[in-house]
Amino acid sequence: MVKSLIPLRIAGVGYSLPETVITNDDLTKLYDTSDEWIYTRTGIKERRVVSGEQNAIDLGFEASKNALAKAKIDPSEIDLIIAASSAPPDLYPAIACHIQARLGIKTQIPAFDITAACTGLIYGLSIAKAYIASGMYKNILIVATDNNSRLVNWEDRSTSILFGDGAGAMVVTASDDGVDDVIAIDIKSDGHIGDLIELSFDGKNCPLVEQYEPKPTGIRMNGKGVYAFVAKILPHYVENLITSAGMKAEEIDYLIPHQANIRIIQAVQERLGYSDDKVVTNIKYYGNTSAASIPLALAESVEKGKVKLGSTAVLCGFGAGMTWGGAIVRLREGIC
Ligand code: ACO
Repeated sequence: MVKSLIPLRIAGVGYSLPETVITNDDLTKLYDTSDEWIYTRTGIKERRVVSGEQNAIDLGFEASKNALAKAKIDPSEIDLIIAASSAPPDLYPAIACHIQARLGIKTQIPAFDITAACTGLIYGLSIAKAYIASGMYKNILIVATDNNSRLVNWEDRSTSILFGDGAGAMVVTASDDGVDDVIAIDIKSDGHIGDLIELSFDGKNCPLVEQYEPKPTGIRMNGKGVYAFVAKILPHYVENLITSAGMKAEEIDYLIPHQANIRIIQAVQERLGYSDDKVVTNIKYYGNTSAASIPLALAESVEKGKVKLGSTAVLCGFGAGMTWGGAIVRLREGIC
């Protein structure tokens, strides 16, 4: 864990969703499935998907504007952009560079993407924390955005039911009152089990050499394997994060977890001994929006009045890599 030199303030959080809703019943037009099968195993009833030309950059841009407005920070004041995505429209230019241009940031600030799948927001926050603590950057925009619907295999009913599109963004700054809004943060990975969730970026070898067997396209997931791994490690991991911060679970107001499967969320909830009103879930309406899921859940739950600001929350995520991570944060008034 980074010992803070300069503390970090979470200044603004925003989100954006595509308008098109695809319900579980709609999916029965694609393959043999049912609302009952999907809902009982995942907690998902519907998801949003991009349509036409819209993509993760558009969603990320909207979420960024919303987060900047809440932070009352002009785009010209941003000195670093970090974008996290599991489903970028292109490998380059980076989403972060696109966002820099869309926001009209004329200064030559750094902007880069990170690949930590659904743990992307926590990874981004961890990187931002280190930069702010060192004094290297002052105002950082973290954008987490995904158009999974373009990268799932719509013939694979066991994975395509799970995902949706969306974006979340967080503006963090050097704190001017000495209070650090990141009470604790930790990120992890285990590449040995990377084959649990894969999305190949494929091409062809030089035509003058032996070719290779291309990998299947679309998101491939060993759902049972992911479930077993995450259900085993995550509840204990989140509990340890809280204990290692010198806190007790009951001292934290909300659990805002990555929205991948309602049963995994419930396992963490049970471990922490939280009642339903302390746990943010919106998976029913948006499915798994990957990197976007945590900031989307945070900003939307504040908007709907479920989460009251002036509180604390434990965020936790997991995803391809396998990666996982958690953060205990202060949610100040006015951030979303
Ligand atoms: N509708 C109806 N039947 C289905 C469907 C469907 N949509 N999908 C699969 N089935 C069938 C299978 O064909 C199988 O039938 P069979 O027994 O005749 O072979 C049966 O249902 C059981 O299939 P499983 O895949 O074993 O189903 P399981 O109970 O494991 O549930 C699920 C699948 C919901 C995906 C579950 O494993 C899960 O939620 N895993 C965790 C997923 C997760 O959290 N992923 C995070 C990804 S985040 C990221 O980084 C991208």
